Amino acid sequence: MTRILITSALPYINGVKHLGNLVGSLLPSDAYARFMRMRGAEVMHICATDEHGTPAELAAAAAGEPVEAYCARLHEVQKSLGEGFRLEFDHFGRSSSDRNHRLTQHFAKALFEQGLIYEVTEQQMWSESDGRFLPDRYLEGTCPNCGYERARGDQCENCTKQLDPTDLINPRSSVSGATDVEARETKHLYLKQSALQEQIRAWIETKSDWPVLATSIAKKWLNDGDGLRDRGITRDLDWGIPVKKGDEDWPGMEGKVFYVWFDAPIEYIAATAEWADAHGKSEADWRRWWREDEGARDVHYVQFMAKDNVPFHTLSFPATIMGSGEPWKKVDFLKGFNWLTYQGGKFSTSQGRGVFMDQALEILPSDYWRWWLLSNAPESADSDFTWEGFQSGVNKDLADVLGNFASRVTKFCRSKFGETVPEGGEPGEAEAALAVEIDTRLKGYAAAMEAVEMRKAASELRGLWVAGNEYLQHAAPWSVFKTDEAQAAMITRTGLNLAALYATVSRPFIPDASDALAGAMGIAPNGAWPESAAVALSQLPAGHAFSVPENLFRKIEDAEREGWEAQFEGAAT
Ligand code: 2FM
Ligand code: ZN
Repeated sequence: MTRILITSALPYINGVKHLGNLVGSLLPSDAYARFMRMRGAEVMHICATDEHGTPAELAAAAAGEPVEAYCARLHEVQKSLGEGFRLEFDHFGRSSSDRNHRLTQHFAKALFEQGLIYEVTEQQMWSESDGRFLPDRYLEGTCPNCGYERARGDQCENCTKQLDPTDLINPRSSVSGATDVEARETKHLYLKQSALQEQIRAWIETKSDWPVLATSIAKKWLNDGDGLRDRGITRDLDWGIPVKKGDEDWPGMEGKVFYVWFDAPIEYIAATAEWADAHGKSEADWRRWWREDEGARDVHYVQFMAKDNVPFHTLSFPATIMGSGEPWKKVDFLKGFNWLTYQGGKFSTSQGRGVFMDQALEILPSDYWRWWLLSNAPESADSDFTWEGFQSGVNKDLADVLGNFASRVTKFCRSKFGETVPEGGEPGEAEAALAVEIDTRLKGYAAAMEAVEMRKAASELRGLWVAGNEYLQHAAPWSVFKTDEAQAAMITRTGLNLAALYATVSRPFIPDASDALAGAMGIAPNGAWPESAAVALSQLPAGHAFSVPENLFRKIEDAEREGWEAQFEGAAT
């Protein structure tokens, strides 16, 4: 059996995520995992909250809570919002877990033993009035690369360049705004990424099947020689994974923690171990996903992330893994996404601009969002969320096409033949043509999902729904019924089978509607992927009981849309 390991970039713990975060990794990874499970693959789908580093400390301070309590609380919030969006992870872990502490310290030891970690006495920014070092996001200033004025000490959000705090122009404390910052001496561990440059370059060269977005970013960093600069992997912070060599202390590193971007990707592995712990599984059960010497050679590993994460996943994390000298699984296919913008501007967590996951679910059920976001995923370019576009996508695709079809065919059947699939009549040319169209669309849909092309997959799925509508429109059983009841019964039976097919194949995109439709059509909610149109269209035999699905989708009214537009405008200013 095919075994597929899927990880979605770990959302930062610092608050509820917005629709851009959702479509940039969590949702597509869920749709892909669902599809692969339906195809019969053994899937391990992993995510977690990314709980360390300055984003966590700053958010906890802003909330007036101890950082540990804040992280525990926000983990539960994010977990339940994920459930609200029907994200089906095998495990949704925490990068602050005991497993991740041990595994991160293990990797540090392995890298040290490979001669890839060295100590550097260096200058870090210290604020006298804050009384502390200001690593990463504690420091803000102007990006030396692009001039963006709110660049952070670790990375510029605007141009994605990874930065050192000392690179910033006009540095200031992001907590207090203090500008009395000065460089002070402190000692840190560095990972000798430069020694792994050629190995990583050769590995990237083998990834000709990756989306260009991913390989072009990786190559740009490699060729600038910038991504594989040696990098500091420790920080002067309280919250994080203590710097240790396995379980031994690391002399000189007392009171320091690992850098968040060192431990976060290791959590992909640790979260799989957390999954084993949570389900009473053995060490071997999780290691067969991650250790090539223990079964993971057969695993196909797919990662989902937004483009700002690509350098960390193509260079830094592989450097950690390869440098350890141990046979850990590396990513086989990396899917990166561009940005989703909000009404022509940026989504912004810090400025509360855009729609956030909790707000979205207060407005409409998750399927509406899943469908629009996935069918408009920012794959080859950025895409823009507008309320008008959202309204029109939902109303046309979900209400007018899928919802209308399901309701029309089931209601017609109920009124003329009752609530069982009618018998009689022989399929003819129209049904043969329909089967050809369905076969082509099913193949196109599956191929797009296998290639992780969400928009294309959505468009093939929409094509399946449209084909059913057109068939029903042309075959017009309501007219035929007047002269030939058997023929009308056959058309209706075909239509009901289409509804059952839609219940199954729509699941990766709109799982709740799939459940409702499967329930109405009297089929198992977790049906396997259809082998062919011929099989799918004869799934429901004559006499099979069904019911009319309660309004699968409703339309978004203009007044509502205008109301939301105004409501979120307010939140943005
Ligand atoms: O950009 C982000 O939201 C990060 N928290 C992603 C981390 S992914 C992984 F490496 F942990
Ligand atoms: Zn910049």
